[in-house]
Amino acid sequence: MTIQWFPGHMAKARRQVTEKLKLIDIVYELVDARLPLSSRNPMIDEIVQNKPRLVLLNKADLADKKLTEEWMKHFKDNGIPSIAVDSQTGTGMKQIVAVSKEILKEKFERLAAKGVRHRPIRALIVGIPNVGKSTLINRLAKKNITKTGDRPGVTTAQQWVKVGKELELLDTPGILWPKFEDELVGYKLAATGAIKDAILNLQEIAVFALKFLTEYYPGQLQERYGLEEIPEEIGDLFDEIGKKRGCMMAGGYIDYDKTSELVLREIRSEKLGKLTFDRLHEI
Ligand code: G4P
Repeated sequence: MTIQWFPGHMAKARRQVTEKLKLIDIVYELVDARLPLSSRNPMIDEIVQNKPRLVLLNKADLADKKLTEEWMKHFKDNGIPSIAVDSQTGTGMKQIVAVSKEILKEKFERLAAKGVRHRPIRALIVGIPNVGKSTLINRLAKKNITKTGDRPGVTTAQQWVKVGKELELLDTPGILWPKFEDELVGYKLAATGAIKDAILNLQEIAVFALKFLTEYYPGQLQERYGLEEIPEEIGDLFDEIGKKRGCMMAGGYIDYDKTSELVLREIRSEKLGKLTFDRLHEI
């Protein structure tokens, strides 16, 4: 899904989340485990306000495990509990209910003391496009809930999706915008495939990605492309990968678009191993 975010859309998205907050006990803020910072909405604290929140680092199967742990510690140090999940296989799903119960323990005890009958926890999933919101809802619901976009003039009733006996989710997640005015964030989102259509230039994204891999994952880069050494010049690195992988044009020239496409496809499909693009020192 590609959404062009204009101020009007952002205001509407924000309003929709704010309205739903009244119906729920807890917000599940879905982020991409490869980009725990860049895949967050820049105004999330303001939007969620004092509603209890659980950060779910989704696509943890694609991320660098050690860094996922570091990011979870970072969230914890900032008072936000988090869980690493993989919505495609269901890893971490049980923990979501368990940790939510822990976070809301006092609230539910207070309600019980007032004589309110025990009810399931109500939650809303929020996150930027492509972070895995629908996949997570379907995984938790154990069935396929069809995606519905916002159709002008059509008001659809809120539906609750039951997750066992102890949790209910709103079936339409809150879709929020990324911090796209930051160029580096844009590159990271594009490199991981979070921005699908090439808003940015393909070669520029590949240059960013290869420089990033050279700095942080040189071993994985060398292994994938059989490089004895990583050339210092980015152009030379492109040439070597292009040559090795047969991304050529007529006349024996390297096809840089083809090389860029190949590198990005391989990054996104885990061929270069597990990668995390956000680093704690960048905060
Ligand atoms: P959204 O509702 O937040 O917009 O995201 P959605 O669930 O549609 O998920 C976006 C893509 O991410 C989907 O791939 C989905 O399969 C994938 N995905 C979601 N959760 C996980 C996860 O935990 N691990 C992995 N590896 N992938 C996950 P898709 O539809 O095939 O799109 P794409 O592969 O063409 O990007």
